[in-house]
Amino acid sequence: MKPQSGRNQHRGGCLAPTDFALLADPLEFIAEDHLREREVCAALDRIATAPQPSAQDIASALAFLGKELPLHLSDEEEDLFPLMRRCCLPEDEIGRMINRLVQDHHHASVDTPEVISLLEALGSAEVTEQERQLLRRYSSYARRHLILENAVVLPIARLRLSESDLESLRLRMMQRRGISPRTNTPDGA
Ligand SMILES: [Fe+2]
Ligand SMILES: [Fe+2]
Repeated sequence: MKPQSGRNQHRGGCLAPTDFALLADPLEFIAEDHLREREVCAALDRIATAPQPSAQDIASALAFLGKELPLHLSDEEEDLFPLMRRCCLPEDEIGRMINRLVQDHHHASVDTPEVISLLEALGSAEVTEQERQLLRRYSSYARRHLILENAVVLPIARLRLSESDLESLRLRMMQRRGISPRTNTPDGA
């Protein structure tokens, strides 16, 4: 299976949250979240090694880990993975892969609050050796997880999910973000 080639592999310094307009294609939205997560991993590595961590790296990482990542994990665990378990063929061998990814999510749920507390307390101080190890371990686990999802899960999802599966995924992701299906804007906006 070929690795997913997003149309925007290099987001560069762009650390803005994923654009809600991409929810028209929910798998594209998830792929964009993955690009953003990869940028945040790079920011965590910079924070781990810089003599003076950048305030922008800290703010971007905190915004992603605190707000976007929990939504992304729910998109996958509550909607995408169950749809895939239902639609995929036995030869896709998706069940074992999804079990492993869900386990990764549980580890992330335990480790993320620790990383958030570290970043919140950091200010402009250089990180300690113990903090450095935590940040690097976290980003390397996250990268490994991203590789599996981009190279295996998303390509199979594109093959197997029907139009109506994609529509239900899209509606659930919009609902999770409080976006009205009619206007594509946050409810009450
Ligand atoms: Fe993901
Ligand atoms: Fe995931």
